[in-house]
Amino acid sequence: MAEYDYDVLVIGAGPGGYVAAIRAAQLGLKTACAEGRETLGGTCLNVGCIPSKAMLHASEFFDAAANGAMAKMGIKVTPELDLEIMHAQRRDAVKGLTGGIEFLFKKNKVDWLKGYAAFEDAHTVKVGDKAVSAKNIVIATGSTVTPLPGVEIDNGKGIVVDSTGALELPAVPGKMVVIGGGVIGLELGSVWRRLGADVTVVEFLDQLLPGMDGDVRKEAAKIFKKQGMTLKLGTKVTGVSVKGKKATITVEPAAGGDAEKLEADVVLVSIGRRPNTDGLGLEKIGLATNQRGQIETDHDFATKVDGVWAIGDVIPGPMLAHKAEDEGIAVAENIAGMTGIVNHDVIPGVVYTMPEFAGVGLTEEAAKERGPVKVGKFPMLANSRAKTNHEPDGFVKIIADAETDRVLGVWCIASVAGTMIAQAAQAMEFGATSEDIAYTCHAHPTHSEAIKEAAMAVTGKPIHT
Ligand code: FAD
Ligand code: NAI
Repeated sequence: MAEYDYDVLVIGAGPGGYVAAIRAAQLGLKTACAEGRETLGGTCLNVGCIPSKAMLHASEFFDAAANGAMAKMGIKVTPELDLEIMHAQRRDAVKGLTGGIEFLFKKNKVDWLKGYAAFEDAHTVKVGDKAVSAKNIVIATGSTVTPLPGVEIDNGKGIVVDSTGALELPAVPGKMVVIGGGVIGLELGSVWRRLGADVTVVEFLDQLLPGMDGDVRKEAAKIFKKQGMTLKLGTKVTGVSVKGKKATITVEPAAGGDAEKLEADVVLVSIGRRPNTDGLGLEKIGLATNQRGQIETDHDFATKVDGVWAIGDVIPGPMLAHKAEDEGIAVAENIAGMTGIVNHDVIPGVVYTMPEFAGVGLTEEAAKERGPVKVGKFPMLANSRAKTNHEPDGFVKIIADAETDRVLGVWCIASVAGTMIAQAAQAMEFGATSEDIAYTCHAHPTHSEAIKEAAMAVTGKPIHT
């Protein structure tokens, strides 16, 4: 009889966990995945990436019709919102994709253990009241919303909500206050602004989108203001109270000063996410979390406990689905005795608003701390395709090492920046110089030509400015 029930048991079926489980099974390992949610796919497929993109895509059409962008191209329509249908197509997208993971589990012979798992020892977990053993256990439990002290989230009431509640609002709020000008606040704030809400974003720092390049952050503020959002930067929320169907938000300057009160029909709390480790029984295997509640691993995604591995949002690094997926593949390959590697220096990040904001590698600020750099910039206004499509906002910015010309970071603001950034990531993965990009033939007319021209601007001059 085998010593363990499974070679690999993955806890959590988000993009990290389900990918790890499928890759482990593909590599011939007997694999199970425990998931407590009703459906597979984790935060990303159920309440994150996918439903938010469904609402962003649909609301963008509404906005284009309502704000005159379509009329400019000779299509005159007065849009009428059927929010029920918009929500239904969101739910359909989620159902289709989460069902797809269930199909892939069956196809690859991954056993889905339904329920929340907790460690009994380093090779045994309990799922419900059933004990299951495995030679290797991968923790891929993801993350949940960081609460704002003293502010109670109640998605059911639909007044003070987190991202899950904000995806499902039954009506367009008259006034919406978003606490936190990060990725979630701007994406979901944009959805409801496009559908007619008056949106105010309260951000503690003096710019939006922490972690992105300084020029990108400055431009973001201009673009979102132009689109009609009210931005209260350098401002902190000190309390939220609800009376009847209205919320009152108390804010004050982050640096100190007089308090002010804002009224709203809906308040979205989006001040970050924190790793899920409560109830996992980590104490039973002697595995501590760091100060930020994350599980630390080595380069192979092994924790300090033999046979226990961790990936995705629960470990340090950006909380992104594609980072979790790549770590899922790498950990399975490492367990199978191969060499699974993730290059954490080249993880793209994208904000899926219109325009999109995307970046990979170092910001100009971080790059300068390491040594002299050369920077090339090219405005989307001078890109023929963006101009033809009436998409004037944005730019591409390339940061290269002043001495070697090696590309250190690429930042794009453009309607399709999320797609454009893939070529930059690939170039950086191959160790490209800005000259390599400048001398690569790009199809015309495409938004991607702006990347080539920004690369030309690093050492010389672009053609079209
Ligand atoms: P998760 O997806 O969080 O999955 C973990 C799973 O583990 C969950 O299903 C949970 O139920 C389960 N679990 C937890 N504990 C246990 C247990 N003890 N036993 C069994 N199961 C357990 N990222 C992007 O890259 N692009 C985007 O566009 C994007 N949009 C987002 C939009 C929103 C609104 C949100 C909230 C997040 C978004 N993200 C996006 C982030 C992305 O969702 C996460 O980075 C990603 O889901 C992390 O994957 P994971 O596998 O580590 O964890
Ligand atoms: P975030 O970290 O992106 O932004 C949170 C913002 O809230 C920060 O700007 C912070 O300064 C601000 N803040 C914190 N406390 C505050 C306070 N008291 N008052 C006012 N502002 C305050 O976190 P967010 O938007 O909640 O997203 C969580 C995670 O989900 C991110 O790490 C992101 O990677 C992931 N995500 C990714 C998406 C994508 O890739 N497109 C989409 C949505 C989420």
